[in-house]
Amino acid sequence: MTTHPLRPVLLAAGRSPRLERVVSTSRLTRPVVDRFVPGSTETEVLTAVRDLLDSGRYVSVDHLGEDTTDAAAATATLDAYLSLLQAFGGLPVTSSAPIRPLEISLKLSALGSSLPGDGHAVALANAQKICAAADAAGVWVTVDAEDHTTTDGALAIVRELRRDFPSLGVVVQAYLHRTEHDCRDLAGPGSRVRLCKGAYREPASVAYQSTDEVDASYERCLRILAEGEGYPMVATHDPRMIAAAARTGRPADSMEYQMLYGIRDAEQQRLVEAGNHVRVYVPFGTQWYGYFMRRLAERPANLTFFLRSLLTR
Ligand code: FDA
Repeated sequence: MTTHPLRPVLLAAGRSPRLERVVSTSRLTRPVVDRFVPGSTETEVLTAVRDLLDSGRYVSVDHLGEDTTDAAAATATLDAYLSLLQAFGGLPVTSSAPIRPLEISLKLSALGSSLPGDGHAVALANAQKICAAADAAGVWVTVDAEDHTTTDGALAIVRELRRDFPSLGVVVQAYLHRTEHDCRDLAGPGSRVRLCKGAYREPASVAYQSTDEVDASYERCLRILAEGEGYPMVATHDPRMIAAAARTGRPADSMEYQMLYGIRDAEQQRLVEAGNHVRVYVPFGTQWYGYFMRRLAERPANLTFFLRSLLTR
């Protein structure tokens, strides 16, 4: 079984600045984007966060942005996260320690990792400031996974940060050949690892290309994490992967399920009612284009929904 033929086209479109201008400036796009991105401002995202917490779910908030090419933009991302962490203080959170209901997710490329020259050092310094503020606020931090050319650099930064912030989480992508090995490395005591399938367009030299191969890899990685001493975070909407996670026999309070905002809301609530930890990844901000195009690429039905809404206006 292979992936949908439109996937590479949509992922390539997600990298096109010209298309980004067209799609982002069309007022017709906004209602469809709203399904996946609950707002562009901090106030709007906090409303969505409150609703999710009220329903018994946890959250991971992502300030949208990636592939930052100037240091000022990286500083703006840092400031947005620091402001968000401060605003989290107003939320009615009852922490069932050691699980933290509030988490933020970071893309190191938004914090400057791809700046020429000292990108690694800039991103590390920015991430350190965010981790320190998050730690003081009782909020978890997890580092997102981007395209495969960034994986070694991101894991190096995570290793450095974990010396001071051992609860720092990291995302791994089952479609990469290397990920089983990374899972073995990361499955140590206290290590929080978010396992996803992977959302970028990757070559066959580094990534499995067929759905069956990616799913098989996901299940192998899941077993490694479930048998390890860390805290597995099962990030998927796929009923087969969710069933595989349940089959590992891992106690419900020592792992969590995670889904993206706007996707399979009823299933999220069902999992909570069955006694599981469920965290929803909630993106916000104005730079939603790349994120939105990856969501369209994942599911042709989302694209149909998007096109139909354009045609019927
Ligand atoms: P997949 O897309 O293969 O879908 C499998 C099945 O799930 C479908 O056949 C259907 O049954 C069901 N399903 C999926 N979407 C549905 C919908 N909208 N409605 C109903 N059923 C649906 N990627 C990355 O590269 N780096 C990252 O850092 C992250 N971070 C991240 C965090 C979290 C919390 C999540 C959930 C995901 C990510 N991802 C990610 C995205 C991830 O890599 C992947 O692209 C998407 O989760 C889609 O893959 P699924 O595992 O959901 O299954």
